Amino acid sequence: AATDGVPRDLALEILAALSESSPILSAKTFPKSTFTEIKAALDRLASREMTKYDTLEREEYTLEPEGEQIAANGSHEARVFEALRQAMDGLTVQEIEKAIGDKSIAKLGQSKAFKEKWISRTKEGKFKTTADAIKDVTREQVQTIKTTRTYPDVKVLAELKKRKLVKMQKVISFRIHKGPKFALEIAKEETDLTADMLVSGAWKTATFKPYNFKALGADQNAGALHPLNKVRAEFRQIFFEMGFEEMPTNKFVESGFWNFDALFVPQQHPARDLQDTFYISDPKTAGKPGPISPNDKQDYEQYWENVRQVHENGKFGSIGYRYPWSPDESLRLVLRTHTTSISTAMLHKLAAKKGLDGLPPPARYFSIDRVFRNETVDATHLAEFHQVEGVIADYNLTLGGLMEFMDIFFGKMGITDLRYKPAYNPYTEPSMEIFSYHQGLDKLVEIGNSGMFRPEMLESMGLPKGMNVFGWGLSLERPTMIKYGISNIRELLGHKVDLNFIQRNPAVRLDKS
Ligand code: PHE
Repeated sequence: AATDGVPRDLALEILAALSESSPILSAKTFPKSTFTEIKAALDRLASREMTKYDTLEREEYTLEPEGEQIAANGSHEARVFEALRQAMDGLTVQEIEKAIGDKSIAKLGQSKAFKEKWISRTKEGKFKTTADAIKDVTREQVQTIKTTRTYPDVKVLAELKKRKLVKMQKVISFRIHKGPKFALEIAKEETDLTADMLVSGAWKTATFKPYNFKALGADQNAGALHPLNKVRAEFRQIFFEMGFEEMPTNKFVESGFWNFDALFVPQQHPARDLQDTFYISDPKTAGKPGPISPNDKQDYEQYWENVRQVHENGKFGSIGYRYPWSPDESLRLVLRTHTTSISTAMLHKLAAKKGLDGLPPPARYFSIDRVFRNETVDATHLAEFHQVEGVIADYNLTLGGLMEFMDIFFGKMGITDLRYKPAYNPYTEPSMEIFSYHQGLDKLVEIGNSGMFRPEMLESMGLPKGMNVFGWGLSLERPTMIKYGISNIRELLGHKVDLNFIQRNPAVRLDKS
């Protein structure tokens, strides 16, 4: 049995007890050990087949406070009887209360004793006993339960429980038997077969610990999605929901042609300065735009010519910029400054498609990927960010219809109350900056840029006059920083990122409106 203070091995004690008699009952043999201790020891022994056990469940009754009181002082009715037995001439109600010292016990006891016919009323309105002695059955019952924790008559147990004098608890204990590998000692179990054991031959007599297939696996410290990827997943879902097709954005390097010229960005535009755009030094230039697969039958020569003309002299009803357009400038390689270069290539491909009416079919494209800008790095700007971009090509689009579309699109991210501000992009007209009222900041915050692509851009690539294309872009970083409460972008990207922060962040759900 337990020797307090001295560390003991319950498993060894169980083995010793079993060698004297088997089976044993855990509750009897180890009354001081807890359920958990016994269970752990038994499982250890059972895994080695040294012992076996059955689980026994029994109901145990204990006294509630009122039951304790009855066990100590007698039932209420017996106490009233006793008070009256001691008073020769009977007692009034008030006198009974005084004798017992508890108004409610006196009241309950009196009516119960009356029902039992232990007491009666005198002519004077007092109470007196009707017998010399009574048997306080309730007290005997609770006393029995107090010592034996049960009672032979289940009806009595149920009744006392109903009267809230006793309560029941399920108690689990074990009947323990010797197992096939019973012994008094627990042999040391090897967990690994080592080279030494093979050399010395110790493996022949060693006992190996069996595999525990029920063990929970160790923490795998698995990878985690970066917060930007979580928000990205949510954005992608919204685009897919609205019928958009994802554009292939797997190229960071573009020629000036795709990044700027095809977008009607003049070659003197400040965005093309070294301060704004990263130029590739090796190799410095790209080849002229052309088909990248044999299936691509588009006339790139014509496209190149159209772009040159629309910049230099104007075309398609535009007077152009009227400057000498440089093919070399157009072939310089840049780190793309926006994913609109990809949209442009996709729209150019769309121009070659023919629907039933012989015209390019309506299309919806999106992408979410990295873009690079030569910016001064600060708390909210890095030299690169992820651009979320969408374009819609269709016939007879109206600006009003597109504002409605923006309401739905941003509404799906919980961004509401949109406002538009006229803006300027070389490739869109009209252009609109999109603002939303931010409740936390109590002001309008800019969320994106948008516009109707210019005919100079669309007609150069061969899209028909009646087709309009609307586009918009926003950064992935801004909504992510707002979502995760990050104020410094270096906490989100780069070598200062806390990996625990990345790992512990929950999946994100943009609040739906
Ligand atoms: N390219 C723009 C930007 O960098 C976004 C945009 C895309 C604007 C398409 C209009 C149309 O912000």
